[in-house]
Amino acid sequence: MRIDGAVVLVTGANRGLGRVLARMCVERGAARVYGGVRDPGADLPAGVVPVRLDITDPAQVSAAAETCGDVTVLVNNAGVLTNTPLVGAPDLTRARAEMDVNYFGTLAMCRAFAPVLARNGGGALVNILSIASWFTNPAMGSYSASKAAAWAMTKGVRDELRPQGTLVVAVHSGYIDTDMARGVTSTKNSPEDVAARTLDGLAADRTEVLADDRTQRAKRAVAADPVPEPRPVAETPVPEPRPVAGDTASEPPTATGNPPAAEDAAPEMPTAIRNPPAGGNPPGARDAAPGTRTGDVAAETRRATDAELGAALRVWRAANEARGKVPDAERIARVRRKLADPAALPVVAVADGAVVGMALAEPGRADDGAGPVLPDLWHVSMVFVDPAYRGRRIGVLLLDEVAARAGGRRLQLWTGAGNERAQRLYRRAGFTPTGRVREHGGETILHLERRPKRS
Ligand SMILES: NC(=O)c1ccc[n+]([C@@H]2O[C@H](COP(=O)([O-])OP(=O)(O)OC[C@H]3O[C@@H](n4cnc5c(N)ncnc54)[C@H](OP(=O)(O)O)[C@@H]3O)[C@@H](O)[C@H]2O)c1
Repeated sequence: MRIDGAVVLVTGANRGLGRVLARMCVERGAARVYGGVRDPGADLPAGVVPVRLDITDPAQVSAAAETCGDVTVLVNNAGVLTNTPLVGAPDLTRARAEMDVNYFGTLAMCRAFAPVLARNGGGALVNILSIASWFTNPAMGSYSASKAAAWAMTKGVRDELRPQGTLVVAVHSGYIDTDMARGVTSTKNSPEDVAARTLDGLAADRTEVLADDRTQRAKRAVAADPVPEPRPVAETPVPEPRPVAGDTASEPPTATGNPPAAEDAAPEMPTAIRNPPAGGNPPGARDAAPGTRTGDVAAETRRATDAELGAALRVWRAANEARGKVPDAERIARVRRKLADPAALPVVAVADGAVVGMALAEPGRADDGAGPVLPDLWHVSMVFVDPAYRGRRIGVLLLDEVAARAGGRRLQLWTGAGNERAQRLYRRAGFTPTGRVREHGGETILHLERRPKRS
């Protein structure tokens, strides 16, 4: 979602994070920036148009939706923290106040502006949440509950607004150096940093922004929470009989005419087309890959063990869900089968003791997937990175691992021409366009290849 040219409304724009967000939207070329303020006389950054807005006042919320009918990006930033425990509080007054602003007020804004965003082409809705959505500090238990509720609400709103094309972004941060965290002595993020990450995430169409390492760790801890939840599929893939050639073929064009599938691609990258599995492990496969440091993450890539296939599937699911593509049971079962296929080459990236990335290569075939196995070709059908680990070159590491294990074979993949981030990743990983293109579902799909390095 582009900021330049957008019409943005930031709630709570008179101070703290909201003020910096509003100023940065002006600096990044927004066509108009409305600043929601409870006090109409409040001072605002240059270029920000004041709008009277207490988000707990239904009349003011409706009036703002009328006045700001040209909004394409709504940033729900306004929030309160009362530093109140749950059981130790004298009554529910403060807990209610936090729920009123952080949950009900934010929800009221989402509801009022959903039709405005729809009218203006979908746009984006950004909810400023917190690390406290996942981590409850007992000294501020009722705030955490309100931010957890706002997180759950954000996910629901994302699903509800998907059909109208609205990008819904959840921003989570640890302490930020504003009035709200005035008494805090531990490390705080600068509001400038959080605002910049938020707007960068928005520009990159991310559904989640994790502003700092601690927040990323909290998110992972939630993801790894062992509380059992009903799942539509078994956690660990059970190897199933190999599909016969053609069963899973998806590359066009063939006599049977299966269209290219864009579903197995990573959010920031490939719209890769699947290739049917066939027999034979790659020659020259290495036994182990060296550990590699990527930014502030030490990631190791390796061929996935059977025990890691369940975690690889979870990464695939999380990456798909993060881009709003919740896979159905049939698709999950198909990917589980593909990962467990003995002919395939599943690769994982492991960081912080967990699988954070996965890739799958399958034996390449002639006739765009329908013909016999080509001995010198591997087809890369999936590359996915845990959303919390994006931007750390893990995609490149995974593709390097596949290339190393593919011995002297060429690697091929298909990717959507419009996916610039994917193009960047593949360029960095040594893939180049071959000039072959396909049209699928109104999208142009490019064929890329990485040739083995000559020794
Ligand atoms: N600071 C942190 O450590 C931290 C960490 C993670 C997440 N966050 C979240 O980041 C967001 C911004 O917080 P901040 O740190 O910038 O806090 P802040 O400095 O206390 O500013 C809060 C802003 O929200 C506005 N506001 C409060 N109640 C409102 C209401 N009912 N209607 C409209 N506006 C209202 C305030 O307006 P007035 O000036 O009129 O009071 C102020 O502009 C919040 O959602 C907060 O929960 C903060």
